[in-house]
Amino acid sequence: MSGFAADWLALREPHDLRARNRVVLEAVVEAFADQPSINIADLACGTGSTLRALGPHLTARQNWRRFDNDLSRLARAANAPNATAVPLDLALDLEGALDGPVDLVTTSALLDLVSEDWLARLTVEAAARRIPVYAALSYDGRVEFEPAHAMDRKIVTAVNAHQRRDKGFGPALGPKAAAVVVERFERVGYSVVHGAADWVFGAADREIQTEVLSGWAAAVRETGDLSLPDVMNWLTQRRDWVASGQSSIRVGHVDVFARPTDTR
Ligand SMILES: C[S@@+](CC[C@H](N)C(=O)[O-])C[C@H]1O[C@@H](n2cnc3c(N)ncnc32)[C@H](O)[C@@H]1O
Repeated sequence: MSGFAADWLALREPHDLRARNRVVLEAVVEAFADQPSINIADLACGTGSTLRALGPHLTARQNWRRFDNDLSRLARAANAPNATAVPLDLALDLEGALDGPVDLVTTSALLDLVSEDWLARLTVEAAARRIPVYAALSYDGRVEFEPAHAMDRKIVTAVNAHQRRDKGFGPALGPKAAAVVVERFERVGYSVVHGAADWVFGAADREIQTEVLSGWAAAVRETGDLSLPDVMNWLTQRRDWVASGQSSIRVGHVDVFARPTDTR
């Protein structure tokens, strides 16, 4: 994907919203149904998509603290009355986001960017404070294309290798994220509700398909695993199928709600 420009986040947000797993979301809502108020720490908030996705479903009065290290995205996230935007490098100071009154940690599209060590730190620090965690939209390495192209498998293999590169938190979990997140929370004694939250791009979703395919082609080139003509032929054919309304793509993600077993 072409970086994390705010317009990329805007482009993906409706697809993320559609993809979010309803059972997992409902488990989060249910867990706080009896509380009059709730303090939420949203990690790597971007422009605030989790507040927009979850906030309307929570019955409690909400106080959101939203953390990101990108000031321009935080500026766009800042204008909700019940939300504070806090600049923070989560690779350096995760604990700064978890300290204080926090009833729920949320995040989305983050855990495939982080390392296994950082994820272990999140689970241990959350468990030490007995905080439930709702982590949405972790990539799980599955990609299905329609129609099929002979290069699809090699492209996805190279994309997944690229996803493992360091994104600022150490070697990234990438496609392993979804499975490791569940395992790590279970290891600290949390019960975990999880379910598929796949992007399903239909023939009409031309803009996001084109953006995703271009981003993947660029990532594959960076790996050097495939030749330029192979990548260009694949991209040209796939973009033609997108333009002519023949293309659909499914990208696997998983949503997780993890909470201490003997919870509040
Ligand atoms: C894929 S975006 C997801 C944003 C948002 N949660 C969403 O779903 O739209 C990843 C976010 O992680 C943030 N991020 C990356 N590294 C970070 C770091 N070290 N500390 C804080 N935020 C970071 C980026 O600025 C970006 O907003």
